Amino acid sequence: MSSSPKVLVAGATGLLGGRIVRALLDQGVPVRALVRPGTGAEKKNSLTALRTGGLEVAEGDITDPVERLAEAVGDATTVISAVQGGPDVIVDGQANLARAAEKAGARRFVPSDFAFDLTKLDDGDNFMIDWRRQAAAALAGSGLEVVSVLNGAFYEVMIGFMGLIDWERGTLSHWGDPDQPLDLTSVADTAAYTAAVALDPAATGTLRFAGEVVSMRGFHEAVQRGSGRTLRLLHLGTADDLRAEIARRAALTSNPFDYVALQYQWCMVSGKATFDSLDNARYPQITPQPLADFVRAATVAP
Ligand SMILES: NC(=O)c1ccc[n+]([C@@H]2O[C@H](COP(=O)([O-])OP(=O)(O)OC[C@H]3O[C@@H](n4cnc5c(N)ncnc54)[C@H](OP(=O)(O)O)[C@@H]3O)[C@@H](O)[C@H]2O)c1
Repeated sequence: MSSSPKVLVAGATGLLGGRIVRALLDQGVPVRALVRPGTGAEKKNSLTALRTGGLEVAEGDITDPVERLAEAVGDATTVISAVQGGPDVIVDGQANLARAAEKAGARRFVPSDFAFDLTKLDDGDNFMIDWRRQAAAALAGSGLEVVSVLNGAFYEVMIGFMGLIDWERGTLSHWGDPDQPLDLTSVADTAAYTAAVALDPAATGTLRFAGEVVSMRGFHEAVQRGSGRTLRLLHLGTADDLRAEIARRAALTSNPFDYVALQYQWCMVSGKATFDSLDNARYPQITPQPLADFVRAATVAP
């Protein structure tokens, strides 16, 4: 029997949440996954295999009534939220989950932040980060100890969602100063650090981790080395030019998701959301994966 206190993970069927569950189970920590009743069978099945490793599954939605949600939290002492969604989920849902956690007697709450340094940003810099800052304000009023884990950008996102690399054209396009440091971490390492934070009774406040801190030039070099491909580095404009491009696109669409990838890039390349310091040394047992190794292992090249 494990002597570790139980951890509830909301968002366990997601990209990051699933990794957090595994990282905790690997260390013998009892975990309960909160899974929405409507979650697809394929995603649910991904958790079935983990049940033999001691995973419990509780059905629930973080917007459920607090009484019901508190039952799902049960005897978990730490709640990790790795949910994704709109303000109904990120702001109201997480505040609701925190109320349920408090009611159930949990002590700690790790919100679904997992970004660059959102404490340094202002409203309007990135609308999805605004929701997380609003959630932080709501959670500050709870009786729980809130510990925020920040990881910069996922390696996965840098070679995918951001749209920087065009493998067919053989280009890597970027905005801003090519020497501006960028904080980057793989999903797996973010999960490992989150599990370490959850198991560290002294962890408090906001903790910042990065697998690598590299400039865009360094990123370009690592992607080429890892992929074995030669990519032309294209400079699209300054960080101010990018800000103007975001405003131009915002005027053309009512859907902010059309330009959110650019908002994420601006927060990074402007240096505004860059970490001032890292907490990696707090958990020396974690050796983050080098970016080039990650790129080599990822099947990104056509
Ligand atoms: N730093 C970065 O580069 C980066 C990149 C990507 C994500 N992130 C952050 O990492 C966190 C997790 O993102 P992700 O990509 O892992 O998300 P994801 O794969 O989309 O998974 C989201 C999870 O949230 C669950 N969920 C959504 N609404 C819920 C609700 N009302 N009640 C309960 N569960 C709910 C989903 O359940 P279903 O399976 O039922 O849908 C799913 O398990 C987010 O904070 C995100 O912003 C950071």
